[in-house]
Amino acid sequence: MNSEELVSRARMAMQHAYTPYSDFPVGAAVLYKDGEVIEGVNVENVSFGATNCAERTALFTGVTRGYHKEDVAAIAIAGDTETFLPPCSICRQVMVELCAYETPVYLSDKYGKIKEMTLKELVPYAFTDLDM
Ligand code: THU
Repeated sequence: MNSEELVSRARMAMQHAYTPYSDFPVGAAVLYKDGEVIEGVNVENVSFGATNCAERTALFTGVTRGYHKEDVAAIAIAGDTETFLPPCSICRQVMVELCAYETPVYLSDKYGKIKEMTLKELVPYAFTDLDM
């Protein structure tokens, strides 16, 4: 599956985002090495801090299904945004925990334009270790 197809899966998922407070829908799609794709959307809450971002929804579902960080092939993120949507820093930290550092990350905008990078480029100097 190429980057366009994975971004399109993230865009399709976005329609199910639950965003009554921000009206800012986000979709994510994680491709696993066995070909499985798991989507996620942002799910908001009237107690704002209880909101879960799209990327975390997808990755946590992957963990729930038994996938590990070595199984992730790529992750795509889609927003109804004028320019590519950069993941929030909480999601970046979760991505570092649950995806390999060389994982391709596809960021996209409402026109379907894609910015490709690795997780390492997105999150340099990541916090990964308690044994420092
Ligand atoms: N959001 C995501 O789902 N992913 C991101 O990386 C950026 C932020 C959501 C959280 C909230 O529901 C809305 O976008 C506005 O912050």
